Amino acid sequence: MRSTDEIRRQFPIFRSEEIIYLDSAATAQKPQIVLDAIDRFYKEENANVHRGMHILAEKATESFEGARETVANFLGADLHETVFTHGCTESINLVAMSWGRSNLKKGDTVALSILEHHSNIVPWLQLKEEIGINVQWIDIDDDGSLMIDNFDGVQLVAITGCSNVLGVKPDLKLIIDTAHAAGAKVVVDAAQLVVHEKIDVKELDCDFLTFSGHKLYGPTGIGVLYGKRELLESMPPFLGGGMMIGEVKKDSFTSAEIPNKFEAGTPPIAQAVGLKAALDWLSQFEWKYIQTHEDDLIRAAIETLNTIEGLHILGKPQVGCVSFTIEGIHPHDLTEIIGRKGVCMRAGHHCAQPLHERLGINASTRLSVGIYNTKEDIARAKEEIEKAISILKS
Ligand SMILES: Cc1ncc(COP(=O)(O)O)c(C=O)c1O
Repeated sequence: MRSTDEIRRQFPIFRSEEIIYLDSAATAQKPQIVLDAIDRFYKEENANVHRGMHILAEKATESFEGARETVANFLGADLHETVFTHGCTESINLVAMSWGRSNLKKGDTVALSILEHHSNIVPWLQLKEEIGINVQWIDIDDDGSLMIDNFDGVQLVAITGCSNVLGVKPDLKLIIDTAHAAGAKVVVDAAQLVVHEKIDVKELDCDFLTFSGHKLYGPTGIGVLYGKRELLESMPPFLGGGMMIGEVKKDSFTSAEIPNKFEAGTPPIAQAVGLKAALDWLSQFEWKYIQTHEDDLIRAAIETLNTIEGLHILGKPQVGCVSFTIEGIHPHDLTEIIGRKGVCMRAGHHCAQPLHERLGINASTRLSVGIYNTKEDIARAKEEIEKAISILKS
């Protein structure tokens, strides 16, 4: 197994000693091998996929479809169930606007947890406005654990795999089994989960699962939607255009088979190549190694931050991030001051305003970790936070 030092050396951004990057929940840094794969694609294979007849189009198509195979294997999904989108947000919108519009009617209910990111809230609120569905909120206790009873009367449960603020992990298997017992479908927003632990969509038995490439050490501009074959087959296309059709007449069209039905227009080809490189790179590590390393970091972050006077950690963080407030200090002021010293963290509502409202605050500061972080990063963050507090309180 490689040391964290060796891992860091594979990320060009860490050549700058100044950077203490504790913002991977927003986006992860990219190893050289991912940058090289994208570079090589543009230099040696660049062409549009599927529609060309020439050698480059063949190579590009092979690389793009090869990336789909890697992603499908990563999730334990079938190839046809693995749709490329431009990001997790688009994947959730696809479920809402395609499955939701054709399966939900006025008075139906979508259950959301109060932990959700806006990208797993707003599309459902759009459907509430558009067709009059009810949005039912699942509350949390003081630790951030979801309070779930049953899903009677619910048609869809839209649930995060891991909160991007509290770092808590809902019990997906329990939620999915409970939802299915009530006849509800489940979409899992795995944006924050996929990078921290192994996911097997068949084992989970989720109906849909979404994530973005850029939080997984891959490039921006690519996302994935997993959907059960029979659901994807029954759903209408989300966007219309090239690539997603069987045939187009002057007054009608037929759709392509899945997954192409949901991939209108030129897809994110180089990004898919980059995502494949990221997953291949990640596969050299055992999940156990990643989890142990990151658990250590989260434990160290909790212990270290708890020594700072007036600091309150939100919930009981388990995975990926720790968010906090400090009495008398605005998160933006704190994060800006430590940011000037190279400590990269994030302040605000983290696209989770209903959660912050539930916690009775407007904003928080978030420290998040990736495979390349060390306990020294956390110690440096503490130093700078304490210095910032004394500046702000003076
Ligand atoms: C839990 C969660 N869901 C969804 C998203 C949206 O991801 P993207 O902006 O890449 O579409 C994020 C991004 O931060 C997130 O943390």
